[in-house]
Amino acid sequence: MAERAAQLSVDGQTIDLAVLSPSEGYDAIDISALITEGYVTFDPGFMSTASCESSITYIDGDEGILLHRGYPIEQLSSSSNYLELTYLLLFGSLPTQSEFDAYKEKIRAETYVDDRLLALCATLPQHSHPMGIMCSLVGAMSAIFHHETDITDAASRDQVAIKLIAQMPICAAIAYRHSVGKPMLPAKPELAYGEHFLHLMFSEHEDDEVNPVLATAMDRIFLLHADHEQNASTSTVRLAGSTDANPYASIAAGIAALWGPSHGGANEAVLDMLAEMGSVDRIEEFVGKAKDSNDPFRLMGFGHRVYKNYDPRAKVMQQTCDEVLNELGVENDPVLQMARELERIALADDYFVQRRLYPNVDFYSGIILKAIGMPVELFTVIFVTGRTSGWIAQWKELVSEPYKIGRPRQMYTGSRNRDYVPIGAR
Ligand code: ACO
Repeated sequence: MAERAAQLSVDGQTIDLAVLSPSEGYDAIDISALITEGYVTFDPGFMSTASCESSITYIDGDEGILLHRGYPIEQLSSSSNYLELTYLLLFGSLPTQSEFDAYKEKIRAETYVDDRLLALCATLPQHSHPMGIMCSLVGAMSAIFHHETDITDAASRDQVAIKLIAQMPICAAIAYRHSVGKPMLPAKPELAYGEHFLHLMFSEHEDDEVNPVLATAMDRIFLLHADHEQNASTSTVRLAGSTDANPYASIAAGIAALWGPSHGGANEAVLDMLAEMGSVDRIEEFVGKAKDSNDPFRLMGFGHRVYKNYDPRAKVMQQTCDEVLNELGVENDPVLQMARELERIALADDYFVQRRLYPNVDFYSGIILKAIGMPVELFTVIFVTGRTSGWIAQWKELVSEPYKIGRPRQMYTGSRNRDYVPIGAR
């Protein structure tokens, strides 16, 4: 990185700060030594803060660009598949055929139903939210595999990544089958990733076959959710990982952060919102609420912190959505029709146009997942399953180089030093 200098002038004092130039994106002013001058920076929500260096994913939100290790998401989604992308995220380059075969073999070796996770899930009430189950199962993995995990050893770190990528769809299926009271099927590691997931979720018998259009759509949903640089959940994984915490526990922390409706929970919130709307006639009313600055309601599935242009993943997802709806012949489903109409109205509305609020990836993934028959409460779990590869690649990047514990400062606005008053004297 070439360095330039910036000057910060405060009360007549000039402080020199290095300007760092990344390979893509905004130049960064390095303020890490500012504390030694008696100042901190104030940036709630990290609107202008780069928390780390990373060579995994690049987003240009104004141009609607998403690159993984330099490869555009459009090329990856049309020519690659989820497992190949996980290799790319973890190891930095596309695999040769033999590298890919060896990698898939390692994934297959970790593709089994762990009885301990099944037994744990059985202790939870049937109505448990599947995201809570996912936190519990991955938390349990941190306990079960703690003693065989050495974060200082590169091979052990890779093994953690492989185990998580192999196990996450199985955990998702355990959570789902528990919620509907169906016994788990044995794993079939020979199936392709998306196909295997749908098989574990929905098959009645071991030899049931999965619709190939749906299997491809599922793989693409995982691929499109795989990584998205330093979003809230990834930053949570990195922050937890920066304390040298167990990596499975760090991923469980990421799952917790993803759960919220402002982040991964948005795809579930989209369908909840459509259910509340009930019919096309009420779209205008909901759009009006979303535009009312005195009403906290927002159109779920619209807007993004970084993309102020069409999310490139949403374009691919929209196309996949059409393929799935055609395949299933459900174009006339009333909820899906409402979604289409909402999209049309919002895209033409000045409020959304001026604020550059476009349908995001969750808007379309929600529609596809509904069409496939996925229960709404499972939507965010699907996001977890895809995002696990990005989280663990980001964790691996963090711990493979020297790093500091993540420890932000604050701007304290509370009381100044005051003396304790005994309870009887207050
Ligand atoms: N509906 C209505 N208005 C909205 C929406 C929305 N979905 N999103 C943003 N706005 C408005 C805000 O009210 C604000 O208006 P103002 O300038 O008049 O005050 C303006 O657009 C800017 O909004 P911010 O809150 O500053 O945008 P921010 O970048 O902080 O928020 C977020 C991004 C959280 C995603 C937001 O757009 C939102 O809540 N969307 C709905 C939830 C959603 O779909 N989340 C999924 C995100 S994608 C993902 O995690 C994979």
